[in-house]
Amino acid sequence: MANSVHGVVSRGKGEPVQVTEISVPDPGPGEALVKVQACGVCHTDLHYKLGGIGDEYPYLLGHEAAGVVEKVGSGVTDVEEGDFVILNWRAVCGQCRACKRGKPWYCFATHNATQRMTLADGTELSPALGIGAFAEKTLVAAGQCTKVNPDIAPATAGLLGCGVMAGVGAAINTGGVTRGDSIAVIGCGGVGDGAIAGARLAGAKTIIAVDVDDRKLEWAREFGATHTVNSREVDAVEKIQELTDGFGADVVVEALGRPETYKQAFYARDLAGTVVLVGVPTPDMKIELPLLDVFGRGGSLKSSWYGDCLPSRDFPMLVDLALQGRLPLEKFVSETISINDVEAAFEKMEHGEVLRSVVTF
Ligand SMILES: NC(=O)c1ccc[n+]([C@@H]2O[C@H](COP(=O)([O-])OP(=O)(O)OC[C@H]3O[C@@H](n4cnc5c(N)ncnc54)[C@H](O)[C@@H]3O)[C@@H](O)[C@H]2O)c1
Ligand SMILES: [Zn+2]
Ligand SMILES: [Zn+2]
Repeated sequence: MANSVHGVVSRGKGEPVQVTEISVPDPGPGEALVKVQACGVCHTDLHYKLGGIGDEYPYLLGHEAAGVVEKVGSGVTDVEEGDFVILNWRAVCGQCRACKRGKPWYCFATHNATQRMTLADGTELSPALGIGAFAEKTLVAAGQCTKVNPDIAPATAGLLGCGVMAGVGAAINTGGVTRGDSIAVIGCGGVGDGAIAGARLAGAKTIIAVDVDDRKLEWAREFGATHTVNSREVDAVEKIQELTDGFGADVVVEALGRPETYKQAFYARDLAGTVVLVGVPTPDMKIELPLLDVFGRGGSLKSSWYGDCLPSRDFPMLVDLALQGRLPLEKFVSETISINDVEAAFEKMEHGEVLRSVVTF
């Protein structure tokens, strides 16, 4: 049986997204049908719409979601009907070379649903990041459902499914930020502020927020930034050095995905420091750096997919910390909107009016 619901579909590069009827199959072996309660609007959804990720249109957007398992297919044992879950795009396989070496957060063969959701006319949809959750119901691999404490509000919890987790993890997991460290975060949207919140959780001493928008910098303070830098007004690299005794930060997180800000990150870190690229670049972007500087400055240049998270380990832990009041997850939610307002939410995101708009059902 298939379920007919509404979904937000991107039909072609740059075209406005549409709310349209889609068909969601009942779960087959290893799959779960999830009643979506909330799904955040992430910048990656906008990348999909603009053609920055691929051209497998039509896309079913939305991938930062929480909901309740409605039905599971055969062979599913980890979750059952009625479980409150955050959806993840890293259902690890346990079999690939990364999983076998004990580093499942690098899993190269993550699971997605086998069956495809379709438009009413049968056209197969490509679900964003293998999820597709701007819809009342979605079909995922059971491993994409991570059970967490249901006391947390769905709109808040869902944000751990992508942006906030990517940011927190970029600081803690990829960057290895720990007590006493200095960190600078360039780009203070949902992802960047996640990195700031993560750095505070880890005990970083100096947390420098860099953005071009004063409103974003004010919000960054609420997540734990100890200093803010408007890089439209001052030179970000010089200012970060000045705030770190002239040296640069131990870790710099680039949460935009652009060559010019990556360069800032590269030069704003201390010798032997770490750059973490968590922002997603587009295919046309290139970067040129003196190789001698890459060598001479030492340290490491890392990328962070999904904050190198392990959903089964990190989601329940972060939800518990949020419920204890130690991670202000709810502050990421700027507004809750209806499924019809995703296009408007993209505009607000581009104008810096929101940290996260969250579609609720
Ligand atoms: N690696 C991952 O797993 C992962 C996961 C989610 C999102 N992302 C990516 O992270 C990036 C950020 O996502 P988001 O949802 O936080 O986006 P966002 O649009 O909410 O935030 C971007 C921020 O950057 C600021 N900004 C713009 N130009 C700037 C500049 N020149 N210097 C400094 N700041 C500037 C904006 O004012 C805004 O605050 C995107 O590229 C997104 O695709 C990556
Ligand atoms: Zn694997
Ligand atoms: Zn995302």
